Amino acid sequence: MKTTVLGIETSCDDTSAAVISDGVLLSNVIAGQAIHEAYGGVVPELASRAHQQNIIPVVHEALKRAGIKKEELSAIAFTRGPGLMGSLLVGTSFAKGFAQALNIPLVEVNHLQAHVLAHFIKDKDGNNPQPKFPFLCLLVSGGNSQIILVRAYNDMEVIGQTIDDAAGEAFDKCAKVMGLPYPGGPIIDKLAKEGNAAAFQFSKPRIDGYNYSFSGLKTSFLYTLRDKIKENPNFVEENKNDLCAALQTTIIDILMEKLRLAAKELNINEIAVAGGVSANSGLRNAFLEHADKYSWNVYIPKFAYTTDNAAMIAITGLFKYNDNVFCDITETPFAQTII
Ligand code: KG4
Repeated sequence: MKTTVLGIETSCDDTSAAVISDGVLLSNVIAGQAIHEAYGGVVPELASRAHQQNIIPVVHEALKRAGIKKEELSAIAFTRGPGLMGSLLVGTSFAKGFAQALNIPLVEVNHLQAHVLAHFIKDKDGNNPQPKFPFLCLLVSGGNSQIILVRAYNDMEVIGQTIDDAAGEAFDKCAKVMGLPYPGGPIIDKLAKEGNAAAFQFSKPRIDGYNYSFSGLKTSFLYTLRDKIKENPNFVEENKNDLCAALQTTIIDILMEKLRLAAKELNINEIAVAGGVSANSGLRNAFLEHADKYSWNVYIPKFAYTTDNAAMIAITGLFKYNDNVFCDITETPFAQTII
């Protein structure tokens, strides 16, 4: 009999449900929340209310698209954390209720671990290459910038991380000061394609080891804008593409420099990237260039598996299910953690 897991993700502002059967993804439904755009960032209370409205239709749709009846499910996996507490509570409560009603096991999933394991989602054609252990994973999202040494699906060590802002935050905050909509990453990515990255120079951090810092870059970006706007009030409008290109290139350089160092010192050439910022076309190109130059085997997830999605929760749930790692109905969500 097939092992079929329903994954549920509600850690931030996307309500998502996915069905995976024996590792093959059958459906991955994601409902975004446009309501936050007006505020330039996610409003936690509005996010949890929207999850409450979305969760039942999204789960229903995921089962329907997968062609699976709820009675055929082997287990329910849900994001326990880290994330927004109110949002996590909606998914956690739903998962507990559903698992109890169906009398099937409940599996808790760490959202960050799931981003890394997104590389093991098999599509229906089953041809996507998967990293071999041990591999390094650059996890870059709105809240995290980490280099993770992955020895096995359940053996991960964070060997480097940001000491202040995350890479996604740098994109989002710099976009905000340029008057661009939230989230800033995708729009900066788009405008950067038309810009000259050499037009501006922003400061890069000097931090020991594999750790990151992005707050100095953010400050240097802000100061450049402030000084130039004094001379020309239309400065941002007239230089948007170049500013985006220079900012994006600096962020990518900072990310790749530490990743190169870790790969060299640990002698690992299986290198993966995960998290929302891995949708960035410049970062994807940098990975491909590094593959050529340093003989890395690089693993770049499909766009659909980079931002928050339940497919990654379901695949992580399946790994844990196969190892009989279940969780009790009394488990509560957690807002913050490191893996
Ligand atoms: O993993 P994710 O969906 O969830 C959170 O951590 O919240 O990551 C969201 C982050 C945001 O900061 C967004 O600006 C960034 O990913 N992002 C991008 C791109 N697409 C999303 N950053 C740069 N380029 C992109 N194309």
